[in-house]
Amino acid sequence: MTTIQDNYLTLADGQKMPQQGFGVYKLTDSATFTQTIQDAYEDGYRLFDTAQMYGNEADLGKALKSLSVDRDDYFITTKVAESNQGYQKAIDSVKESLQKLQLDYVNLLLVHWPINGPFFETWRAFEEMKKEGLTKSIGVSNYGMVHLQYLATQASEMPVVDQLECHPWLSEKPMIKFNNDHHIVTQAWAPLGRGRIFEEPILQEIANKHVKSAAQIILRWHLQNGISFIPKSAHAQRIKENAAIYDFALTPEEMAQIDSINKNLRISQEPELVYEFNQQYPH
Ligand SMILES: NC(=O)c1ccc[n+]([C@@H]2O[C@H](COP(=O)([O-])OP(=O)(O)OC[C@H]3O[C@@H](n4cnc5c(N)ncnc54)[C@H](OP(=O)(O)O)[C@@H]3O)[C@@H](O)[C@H]2O)c1
Repeated sequence: MTTIQDNYLTLADGQKMPQQGFGVYKLTDSATFTQTIQDAYEDGYRLFDTAQMYGNEADLGKALKSLSVDRDDYFITTKVAESNQGYQKAIDSVKESLQKLQLDYVNLLLVHWPINGPFFETWRAFEEMKKEGLTKSIGVSNYGMVHLQYLATQASEMPVVDQLECHPWLSEKPMIKFNNDHHIVTQAWAPLGRGRIFEEPILQEIANKHVKSAAQIILRWHLQNGISFIPKSAHAQRIKENAAIYDFALTPEEMAQIDSINKNLRISQEPELVYEFNQQYPH
């Protein structure tokens, strides 16, 4: 049986990435951080997703050290913040991130949000950082079709991952198809809808049938959709629960039922507005 630990996707650049990872946004308690990462590692999570903006790269670095495992045994993603976009700023900021993470390279470096100012210069820096070995793979986050099409007009190489808000209320089907057609792996952030959608009757009904939780049903839906996903939890029991989705399967009818609750509803920001404002905005 495949488990979280041996379930990998191959990216367009040949690198392998765990399909299911662990998000660390809002994990800000330094005292419990290391324990949380240890719990996740023991439960089989191998991908840890941070960002310059989260302010916890140093905590993650410390936690990874304490695992005392080989560098090849985990996959680290970080993201360049809007304020660090631009050619030299992006490179300097990633060197600083690597110091905090106590790593020589990250596995995946993402542009956190599209912004219109230094749009191309930032990507040129990403291509350069990949050549220099500061990251194995380069990708983007919150890029829609138009952003990717625009990037393609000047990019030497295209992103291999696009990390998007994606959950049953925002199923992103056209974007997933577009990314698939362009050999870009879609990675769902807020895959659980930040914990706000568990009460959906269809999810409850399917959960009861499989004797699983609504969270597990949602994560299994992402898994069977073939995309990557990075749920976050600060609780050991939930971290374990979220990894225990490899011993059952949703039927095509159940997959379609979950698809049917899509409302195209965003919990977070609208990427096009971030692009226009050149920064994230209060929402
Ligand atoms: N690229 C971007 O712009 C972007 C934006 C946002 C997030 N992200 C990344 O995506 C990751 C995941 O997204 P997210 O943290 O926003 O949302 P999420 O993973 O959809 O949901 C996390 C919330 O669900 C709760 N939860 C988790 N498992 C649960 C379970 N089994 N039962 C009940 N509640 C559960 C968590 O509570 P507890 O922690 O209290 O258990 C937390 O409140 C982030 O950590 C971050 O790494 C990326």
